[in-house]
Amino acid sequence: MQQPMSEIHQRVQQLREQVRKASYAYYVLDAPVISDEVYDRLYRELQELETKYPELISPDSPTQRVGEKPVSQFVSVRHNIPLYSLENAFNIEEFATWQERWLRMAPSEPVAYVCELKIDGSALALTYENGILVRGATRGDGIAGEEITQNVKTIRSIPLRLNLENPPPSVEVRGEAFLSLAVFEQINQERSREGEALFANPRNAAAGTLRQLDSRIVAKRRLDFFAYTLHIPGRDDTDVARTQGESLEMLQEMGFRVNPNRKLCRSLEEVGEYYDLWNTERLKLPYMTDGVVVKINSLALQERLGFTQKFPRWAVALKYPAEEAPTRVEAVTVQVGRTGTLTPVAELLPVQLALTTVSRATLHNSDRIAELDLHIGDTVIVRKAGEIIPEVVRVLPELRPANAQRFQMPAHCPECGEPVVREAGEARTACVNASCPAILRGSLIHWASRDALDINGMGEKLVQQMVDRHLVNSVADLYDLTAAGVASLERMGKKSAEKLVAAIGESKKQPWARVLYGLGIRHVGSVNAKILSERFSTVELLSEASPPDISAVYGIGEEISLSVWQWFRVPANQMLIERLRAAGLQLAATVEEPRGKEKKLLFAGKTFVITGTLPTMKRDEAKALIEGAGGKVTGSVSSKTDYLLVGEDAGSKLKKAEELGITLLGEADLLKMLEG
Ligand code: IVH
Repeated sequence: MQQPMSEIHQRVQQLREQVRKASYAYYVLDAPVISDEVYDRLYRELQELETKYPELISPDSPTQRVGEKPVSQFVSVRHNIPLYSLENAFNIEEFATWQERWLRMAPSEPVAYVCELKIDGSALALTYENGILVRGATRGDGIAGEEITQNVKTIRSIPLRLNLENPPPSVEVRGEAFLSLAVFEQINQERSREGEALFANPRNAAAGTLRQLDSRIVAKRRLDFFAYTLHIPGRDDTDVARTQGESLEMLQEMGFRVNPNRKLCRSLEEVGEYYDLWNTERLKLPYMTDGVVVKINSLALQERLGFTQKFPRWAVALKYPAEEAPTRVEAVTVQVGRTGTLTPVAELLPVQLALTTVSRATLHNSDRIAELDLHIGDTVIVRKAGEIIPEVVRVLPELRPANAQRFQMPAHCPECGEPVVREAGEARTACVNASCPAILRGSLIHWASRDALDINGMGEKLVQQMVDRHLVNSVADLYDLTAAGVASLERMGKKSAEKLVAAIGESKKQPWARVLYGLGIRHVGSVNAKILSERFSTVELLSEASPPDISAVYGIGEEISLSVWQWFRVPANQMLIERLRAAGLQLAATVEEPRGKEKKLLFAGKTFVITGTLPTMKRDEAKALIEGAGGKVTGSVSSKTDYLLVGEDAGSKLKKAEELGITLLGEADLLKMLEG
């Protein structure tokens, strides 16, 4: 029976509201209201209805956050109101000077500031028309920026629709897009695995991410946003809010994430206390702040004071000094990464920086060492860029010991002893021995990583042992491992060994895109692997493709295509592919049947029994899902039962099913099957 369109429309609206509320609770309030499974279920239903009835898609639907096809460049847009930057003060004395200046212009005004944290990210200007997000732009030079609406839409804490009953025709919101330190670290780890240059700090990483031409990559990067300025053009700002404090509250009501760490200060002393407090507190935050922004609270006074050529007169950034400290380089060691890159690392006399002890700092490559003119024994200044990666900023040559030696990049790999190579025009020195243990360790860890073959329990320590004991000499060897062999490793019980071998076996089911990513071809990250696997549906097609064939794929550049082509020209790599094929890995895309049809057939002819209490679903809901996918649900277990869906406190049905050897499923398994 055909469902009336009005009902479908209503259901779509209802789903959107539910998804929006759940996502607001999760991303803005940081207080989830439903489980991930339920969220996924609602989201998927919405997505399916929108696929089936594209005429129902609206720009503010929560499904519009996943990114779109890459663009070739961004369009420049003029800001309706310029984005000013802030004058800096580096201590409370400088702040006092700033305060005296505005007090001379408005001597009878009481002192009242809102102190906010200065988030170290990238400023964004958002435009809402009739409550719907229509434009997002970078700061640019303050007068004009780049239109990056597609990227902005992927930021979950930015509402696609304002939470206002009667939204004004136009609303402008400004704030800071940023990356949490955890995500920043993750991105850098990934880049290091791909052999790409690291971002020096979360600010650069956020700015770089916002300017990504492929919004699908942005969607994966989990940017976040704190709103701090509200403008409603055409209305006197004071109609809306009288103070900056009220503006922040309004932003919060409209659905934005507003930083909770802020304070109304009525004197220089109070500002000083707040500034001192956050100098240490900020190091405990999950994102980076580099100061306190002090803003005059009264919007009327802000208006009266206005702007200089460059800055508002009513706000100032009270910044913290960068965390730097002198220490001595005791030695330089060399690390070998998965792609063979040799990275020199300074071993330092331990020094306190930003609440942690720093004893090592990356020196990046030999060009950087030459630029620093670094000698072993030098006193250097180290900085924790982004409070994360310690870096040597400069050398103090006047403190150099008389006989100090320059560091020389080794001519042989410190791990395997084979000669290293440095290609002309590249800063990178690399080991090219395919059986170098460092490269092998790195390849195995990468192969097992979450976005690749996702092998649970295959951590660094275990990999180290497997390689040291020659249990595994290539990724393909993993598929020959036996539980007895694995159990011979230190601290490895029989149970864990069996589990690991089973997890490795499971990985054979991972799709071709993940296998391709797992191969660890230079410059082929998980997104590129996905794109390539869609265009080249089998490993043969990809390995026979010429560099121009590969770079003809949308989103794939020449550097990537050359790297892929070269990889397949190496005989050892061809052999690896053959062994993976023999082991049963997926080297071709599975043919996708048209959606909907495939869903209906998934459980066709299968009989289910449900028993016990499921974690989130009611039995009727589970039954509806199974039947929707073509399955049948019966009341009792028999030899005709294919699956038993088991919840808590299951009784005799479970026992019987176990006796009959019937496949048992949990709620999560069922959802996974339906999803896959
Ligand atoms: S107010 C005219 N508030 O700092 C007022 N800015 O150095 C302009 N920033 O470009 C900005 N946190 O990107 C303001 N709570 C905050 C901020 C903040 C970070 C950034 C912003 C601005 C830069 C100025």
